[in-house]
Amino acid sequence: MVKKAVIPAAGLGTRFLPATKAQPKEMLPIIDKPTIQYVVQEAVDSGIDDILIISGKGKRAIEDHFDRNPELESKLEEKNDEIFYNEIRRIADMANIHFIRQKETNGLGDAVYYARQHVGNEPFVVLLGDTIIDSVIPVTQQLIDTYEQYQCTVIAVEEIPKDKVSRYGIAGGKKMSDKIMEINQLVEKPKLEEAPSNLAIAGRYILTPEIFKAIEKTSKGKNNEIQLTDALQLLMRREMIIAHTIEGKRYDIGNKLDYLKTTVDFALKRKEFAEPFLSYLKDKIAQHRDT
Ligand code: G1P
Repeated sequence: MVKKAVIPAAGLGTRFLPATKAQPKEMLPIIDKPTIQYVVQEAVDSGIDDILIISGKGKRAIEDHFDRNPELESKLEEKNDEIFYNEIRRIADMANIHFIRQKETNGLGDAVYYARQHVGNEPFVVLLGDTIIDSVIPVTQQLIDTYEQYQCTVIAVEEIPKDKVSRYGIAGGKKMSDKIMEINQLVEKPKLEEAPSNLAIAGRYILTPEIFKAIEKTSKGKNNEIQLTDALQLLMRREMIIAHTIEGKRYDIGNKLDYLKTTVDFALKRKEFAEPFLSYLKDKIAQHRDT
């Protein structure tokens, strides 16, 4: 049973400067909710109620967001603002959320290593705190289902255009079905000619505690950081690792263009914005056609 989730959220967010100079990229809002709230919701919707967030310097706003705020609560109560009151309370009660700080930004592998004591001897899910995946069945649930079938490490992947392979961890292997592949190669941000496929690691993983030993043996890789992808490549020599092609749309919030697209897509799905926002966008497009 997968009962715990780990959300690494310690990165510096350099791709989103200057907005991330003094605030965590995971707190960038998509309309009115910070990105990390969507990520926590995905875990909760997949039956997980124990979440460890790996934070770091300048990330205190994440802790405050998932904490109670008695002053704000009583103000909302005074104003009889039931909707916001309930929402503010709900956020603090979404799950048992724990925090640990990564002391230096030494990469995703190092961040996940901080979870070893909390996780203990159980499989766990890792959800990157800057990636939202919009899907009918939460992607974490999709991975848990695959884990229950194969009882081994499962990595979420998705097909990407070839010219983008150098931005991602890339998995190669032998297809077992449409969705499932047994991985035999994992490379972090390869050059196009070195990429084993165009299947990119999509920011969700089911890991077993064996990963911690593999991280210990992993030396610094891309960007002089301990890469989770390299640790998984080491682990693969001893254990089967499955790639699961996700059903859903992935949004990488750390990337400015993706962030804009996410806002548009999510606004068009919200009842109160869909119509006026779409008509605004149509006007804009018409104006741009004329110029
Ligand atoms: C990380 C992982 C990479 C994965 C990507 C997904 O990279 O190292 O394997 O494909 O997330 O978003 P980052 O985006 O932190 O550079």
